[in-house]
Amino acid sequence: MRRARITGTGMYVPPRVVTNAELEALLGTTDTWIVERTGIRERRWADDGVGASDLAVEASRQALERAGIRPEDVDLVVFATLSPDYPIPGCGPLLQAKLGLPPVAAIDIRNQCSGFVYGIVVADQFIRTGACQKALVVGAEVQSSGLDLSPRGRDMSVLFGDGAGAVILEATEEERGVLGFALHTDGQYAFHLWLEDPGSRKRPRLTPEMIERGSIYPKMNGREVFRHAVLRFPEVILEALAAAGLSVEDVDLVVPHQANQRITEAVAARLGLEGKVYSNIARYGNTTAASIPMALHEALMEGRIRDGDVVVLASFGAGFSWGAVVLRW
Ligand code: UT7
Repeated sequence: MRRARITGTGMYVPPRVVTNAELEALLGTTDTWIVERTGIRERRWADDGVGASDLAVEASRQALERAGIRPEDVDLVVFATLSPDYPIPGCGPLLQAKLGLPPVAAIDIRNQCSGFVYGIVVADQFIRTGACQKALVVGAEVQSSGLDLSPRGRDMSVLFGDGAGAVILEATEEERGVLGFALHTDGQYAFHLWLEDPGSRKRPRLTPEMIERGSIYPKMNGREVFRHAVLRFPEVILEALAAAGLSVEDVDLVVPHQANQRITEAVAARLGLEGKVYSNIARYGNTTAASIPMALHEALMEGRIRDGDVVVLASFGAGFSWGAVVLRW
């Protein structure tokens, strides 16, 4: 049976480290609050003029190199981001050009925190059907240019960071790679985590009043998102494992979306997987679509994943949109 297997990973974060201490005066917050509520100690912020596609180029080059393939071998690009360089066009074409890829298919995915998981499933389907052989799947975000960096925005602005992660998925006939998945969405919760403006419902789409009112910044009902996240993560992980014909006892490592250390720990406890849920949120904060491929890359580099291991990627976020993918390494 034809499957899709990850053969290379890469990540890139901008060099500027922003500690919690730096945010104290700017946002009217404290290091203690941020660490206790989220586990975040620092994050990276890109410089002016750097977009998601720029971070993605570096991560993708590493993934190509680790997979041992050339840019011209890639026949599909899937780019997950909520912070594209421009509203039009998407980041897929920008990345295709910057990497010097042939004029291959490129898809932008905007499922926010679940974007990378959705991206892996899309690429997996293309590979399984034989429509493509080697896919580049990227999650990249520049959040820092879209945050309210005043005390009004402190609840959101302490959480998010910039970064990119990338993987190469290749066709294999072996019993490894993507073994099962589950994807869900429930739009009745759309306004618990959203960004109102600019959007197509308003004429003009952007006004000085929107900027003044702060509706150009993302808003979250944190408690409600938290409550759903700790239920949906375990549920969807078990569902994806069942789809793969496996159970929680088979899991070697879960690489979850890095939203909050307390969510990660609650998920580990609920599944009885303490010590088997990877976390790097302390160093990067929440990098939305980039968080899973960045964490996967670091877990690999740290030797946390070995040949034959069962690895679960799982996400929950805006939409609400959530999902999990089960891989045999
Ligand atoms: O990646 C997408 C998915 N996102 C998530 O999964 C995030 C889920 N939610 C969370 O992680 C948590 O809800 C947060 C970290 C966002 C917030 O933690 P919380 O424990 O739910 O805090 P809260 O929102 O209930 O706020 C508690 C207090 C409030 O003050 P009062 O009303 O108790 O006086 C806030 O005003 O903390 C205050 N607060 C802050 N204080 C200092 C909120 N943000 C800050 C801040 N610094 N940055």
